[in-house]
Amino acid sequence: MARKGSIKTPLTILAISITLFATLSHHLHRCVVYQSTSLSTSFPSLSSPLPPQPPLPPPPPPQFLFPPPLPIPNSASWDSSATSSPSSISTVSILISDWEVLVIASPETPLTPGENYTCYFGHNSSSPARFAGELSFGRGTAFKCVLPENNRQRSPYTKPRLVRSDQIQIPLFEREIAAADLQRWNSLAYDSFTTEHDVVLFVKGVNSRQGNNRPASDLRCVFGDDPSIAVRTAVTSSAQEVFRCVPPNLPENSPQKISVTLEIIHGKDADALILPSVAHYALHEERTIEFSEPTSLMCACTMVYNVGKFLREWVTYHAGLGVEKFILYDNDSDDGLDRRVRELNRAGFDVRTVYWPWPKTQEAGFSHCTLYAEQLCQWMAFIDVDEFILSPTWLDHRKPSPNMLKSSLLPKGTNPGRVGQVSVKCVEFGPSNQTEHPVQGVTQGYTCRRKFDRRHKSVVMLEAVHPSLLNMVHHFKLREGFKTSQLGKHRAIVNHYKYQAWPEFRAKFRRRVSAYVVDWRQSINPKSNDRVPGLGFEAIEPPGWAQKFCEKTDERLKVLTRRWFGVNSSAMIWQSAFYQTMQSMASIDQA
Ligand SMILES: *[C@@H]1O[C@H](CO)[C@@H](O)[C@H](O)[C@H]1NC(C)=O
Ligand SMILES: *[C@@H]1O[C@H](CO)[C@@H](O)[C@H](O)[C@H]1NC(C)=O
Ligand SMILES: *[C@@H]1O[C@H](CO)[C@@H](O)[C@H](O)[C@H]1NC(C)=O
Ligand SMILES: *[C@@H]1O[C@H](CO)[C@@H](O)[C@H](O)[C@H]1NC(C)=O
Ligand SMILES: *[C@@H]1O[C@H](CO)[C@@H](O)[C@H](O)[C@H]1NC(C)=O
Repeated sequence: MARKGSIKTPLTILAISITLFATLSHHLHRCVVYQSTSLSTSFPSLSSPLPPQPPLPPPPPPQFLFPPPLPIPNSASWDSSATSSPSSISTVSILISDWEVLVIASPETPLTPGENYTCYFGHNSSSPARFAGELSFGRGTAFKCVLPENNRQRSPYTKPRLVRSDQIQIPLFEREIAAADLQRWNSLAYDSFTTEHDVVLFVKGVNSRQGNNRPASDLRCVFGDDPSIAVRTAVTSSAQEVFRCVPPNLPENSPQKISVTLEIIHGKDADALILPSVAHYALHEERTIEFSEPTSLMCACTMVYNVGKFLREWVTYHAGLGVEKFILYDNDSDDGLDRRVRELNRAGFDVRTVYWPWPKTQEAGFSHCTLYAEQLCQWMAFIDVDEFILSPTWLDHRKPSPNMLKSSLLPKGTNPGRVGQVSVKCVEFGPSNQTEHPVQGVTQGYTCRRKFDRRHKSVVMLEAVHPSLLNMVHHFKLREGFKTSQLGKHRAIVNHYKYQAWPEFRAKFRRRVSAYVVDWRQSINPKSNDRVPGLGFEAIEPPGWAQKFCEKTDERLKVLTRRWFGVNSSAMIWQSAFYQTMQSMASIDQA
């Protein structure tokens, strides 16, 4: 695959078309309070001419494509009792928030494309199963069902059976629906990732407080479904929801895929023994990332929910500055993210998604991203879709160049003082009199901001990330010998379009992302820094919202992006692509 340097061709393609974005919401990520360390030097050089040839995009992941059925391992967590009738599907189920049940169908169970599925909960109650997403690395297909109201009084809750809607056989199911408990989200091994050297587990409920991590020596990793014969290995790191296990030495005749979890062997709650798990370790499993891909210098990773309408502007802009790959952790978007991503892929941008349905796990998701991208990227910008990196040194450039981020942000020379992370200050923009999403994009619509910078965002060298993968959402703990460099505002800032037009901002209320940040809707901790000043606990537009957070006019990025990405006096390149896509989507839909 060619090095992704140019945006010329994508722009040309994008430029063919016209129009505006649909109305959707996006969620709020925030910069994290941070004390600066050292200041690194040097100014960017002039941009080089655009190299040709954007790469081919990666093929979109297959949907509903399953291998032929294999014998299901006798796993403690997959529901193997359900294999007795033809219509049954092997699943694990987790009760998450708001009476929603995440039902993950084993990849070994054939699902029929285009069929409707139902969750059957017993006592004649069922609810439709909504297709939610494919877990990465073929770990299964996720559905969501609502626990029916008349089953909510009965604790322990029964785990639903996932069945084809046209194959419900109530009498048979009633006999089979043993009181298998639903997994609870507060204490669960939910995912695992096998690296060359170890097995990384993602577990909720062991380290519940920020900064309060149980020693690794209190824990052991347990590989196998039967605890009496399971293989146990040492835990080498315990931080937040991330645990690293020495890989198991499994007997040759072990099942292909076994469950993996943690066991608490010392300290408080040691009697709690083995944590429930929906995570699996597959024997001989390697990461399924294409190792033949050349490593990119700069990538971006973020967690997204319904950001479809912001994506094109954000990707176009940052790709123009040298971000070669975009990795989106999709928190269950329902605004057609996949189609948006495919459309960007067709336009030559390398954008991929990882379906990440786990509630309140932003830190863990970013830890996962560093593993996922280890071989794909040297530097990773952890910036959100409402954040745009800007260096004042670019302001008089006629065109963007893929060399710009490198020369403005990254340390220089062969021995750059072991800088492993650069931290960029954020400035927060207000609604700037907008009352709805600005059709030409956020960079055009929001031009008034708070005067002083708040918080920061980071660009991290993945090799420098500490093995604990510990992060405060937007900066990482580094290995010994690496340091963080805080860039001055003359070198770079992040324009954070944080307080947007009211309909946009309102949508953020419903979704909070970090595991350790208080939900805005809860009325505890009213003085928290995470709250918006002047905002109560309800999503009601405060008087004068459109004029709030406006202390300083800042049109630098507006002017720059107009020069770089303007089609004519009234349209930006990201508007036009949408029209083209809408047309082609309409013709596909009609076909
Ligand atoms: C600007 O370009 C768009 C998209 O190509 C087009 O629809 C629009 O009419 C143009 N406007 C002007 C003022 O030229
Ligand atoms: C699935 O359900 C939808 C909505 O109820 C219906 O239109 C569609 O025909 C169903 N598909 C199948 C294969 O039954
Ligand atoms: C379920 O419904 C059937 C008929 O619809 C009824 O005969 C049966 O008793 C019901 N079972 C339960 C457990 O409510
Ligand atoms: C994803 O969205 C859900 C539902 O709104 C929310 O509870 C959860 O915290 C989000 N998870 C992440 C990792 O952002
Ligand atoms: C918002 O509108 C007010 C009143 O018309 C005006 O004075 C102000 O300059 C506007 N602010 C921005 C950022 O456009």
